[in-house]
Amino acid sequence: MFITFEGIDCSGKSTQIDFLARRLQAQQREVLIVREPGGTEISERIRDLLLDLKHGDMDSCTELLLFSASRSQLVTERILPALRRGAIVVADRFHDSTTAYQGYGRGIPIDSIEHVHGLVTHGLLPDMSFFIDISIEESQMRRAARIAHVDRMENADTAFYQRVRDGYHQIASTSPSRFRIINGMRQPESVSEEIWGWVVSSLPPTRFEES
Ligand code: TMP
Repeated sequence: MFITFEGIDCSGKSTQIDFLARRLQAQQREVLIVREPGGTEISERIRDLLLDLKHGDMDSCTELLLFSASRSQLVTERILPALRRGAIVVADRFHDSTTAYQGYGRGIPIDSIEHVHGLVTHGLLPDMSFFIDISIEESQMRRAARIAHVDRMENADTAFYQRVRDGYHQIASTSPSRFRIINGMRQPESVSEEIWGWVVSSLPPTRFEES
């Protein structure tokens, strides 16, 4: 089973992935957590290129292809082998991030982006995707309160983030059977309860339950 988490920056994805992974592991399930861009040696090097503030003049198509290259490596090297072993893979961002950020955010035509997805996802689509939705103001407040420095992507202006957030709503509305829109402006524990409710109803039986 392949589950992805999406949202604008500082929406609380990593906290929710952590909660979910602990609940799945408590049921003796193998869980692989990956983050994009990154997750393999090659993909982490691409991540450094993408997020480095020195590369402020990166062309949008270069950006699209680098995020996509990182994804292709991650899918073939880690995600597909884990899924074949029966693990549950939880990804902090996947192809919908590219549609939201490079498509709706940067303005690259969505059909061109979908062509690239077709190539680099190797036919893999998430079984379930959570869009954790917070306001742009909340995202900015959380970013300001964080100790970590701002990266190149986070340097974008408010209008860019508004387009990305609207883009996520658009993406979620066109794939209603896969997407759950989760209100991320609540306490992390109640967000986590809602997510668990959705996941638990779709989980395959554990080895213990099967025997
Ligand atoms: P992170 O902060 O969630 O680790 O993600 C890194 C940044 O990269 C974040 O600002 C979102 C952005 N991003 C894209 O623009 N396109 C993509 O395809 C992915 C995976 C991330």
